[in-house]
Amino acid sequence: MTDQLEQLREQGLQNIADSGDLQSLDATRVALLGKKGVITARLKTLGELLPEERKVAGAAINNVKQALSQALDARKAQLEHESVAAQLAEESVDVTLPGRGEVPGAMHPITLTRRRIEALFVRNGFEVVEGPEIEDDYHNFEALNVPPDHPARAMQDTFYLDAASLLLRTHTSPVQIRTMELRQPPIRVIAPGRVYRCDSDRTHSPMFHQVEALYVARRVSFAELRAELQAFLEAFFETDLKLRFRPSYFPFTEPSAEVDIDGRSLGTGAGWMEVLGCGMVHPSVLEAAGVDSLEFTGYALGMGIERLAMLRYGVTDLRQFYNNDLRMLAQFV
Ligand code: PHE
Repeated sequence: MTDQLEQLREQGLQNIADSGDLQSLDATRVALLGKKGVITARLKTLGELLPEERKVAGAAINNVKQALSQALDARKAQLEHESVAAQLAEESVDVTLPGRGEVPGAMHPITLTRRRIEALFVRNGFEVVEGPEIEDDYHNFEALNVPPDHPARAMQDTFYLDAASLLLRTHTSPVQIRTMELRQPPIRVIAPGRVYRCDSDRTHSPMFHQVEALYVARRVSFAELRAELQAFLEAFFETDLKLRFRPSYFPFTEPSAEVDIDGRSLGTGAGWMEVLGCGMVHPSVLEAAGVDSLEFTGYALGMGIERLAMLRYGVTDLRQFYNNDLRMLAQFV
């Protein structure tokens, strides 16, 4: 009897120790102490014994029952602790791991180029001003010395709006007029912004960007224009440059020039490449905007931001700036 009980106890303790998780531990508990468990079966046999034997045997069985019950509780606490620990370990975050590499947004190459141009002119004492993209005929043409039937209007394919001789400005030059209407010399401004022409191929887009520069004061000379451009372009391209001033025609400047840079200094291999138009502000333009042309002279220049960006970044098709292809744009981060 006691040997059997002792064996039951040993076996029970062993089963409890072998229960690897809470579920199997519960099964072990039922098998030992449940209604049909071995200990319960054992207690049921007490009825067959003599009263004096029953007392001793009952105490012995209860003893074992208690021992097993304690072992079950201890094992349960241990398994619960282990499962919590395992869960915590599984869910823990290793804050020392490197990040997943979120890529922050970046400036568009045209924005980068505009800001670069602005910074270089501001460094030389120019102030950034703006004008409207929807212009009137007067500021876009007439005040710039282009009368209604002047052939120079055919130089630019204009988008006209229905209402009251309004149009999408074809260049940033109207900002020259708007600035001089508002203030007297000395004036030293640049005007960046969008312009529109009915034109589209690999080097022309119906919307593109220009930067206008205007310097009006006493005795401003073409030499100063030349010096300013040399300094600006060399700073912009970060290299010594050969410039070529080619005589040209704009109704609003006299004399006028188009400026080429030597492609060999940029390492592109190409020959002379046109980068901008410029000249001395025409006296009629000064007068139209309310500036005394006998007292003041000035220079003006206008350049395409896309053109400069293409040269700086080696982009050969202008339309790549507008396709919003991330493979293209991500190169300018
Ligand atoms: N507005 C001219 C153009 O769009 C450029 C220019 C500006 C030329 C100022 C001379 C002076 O082509």
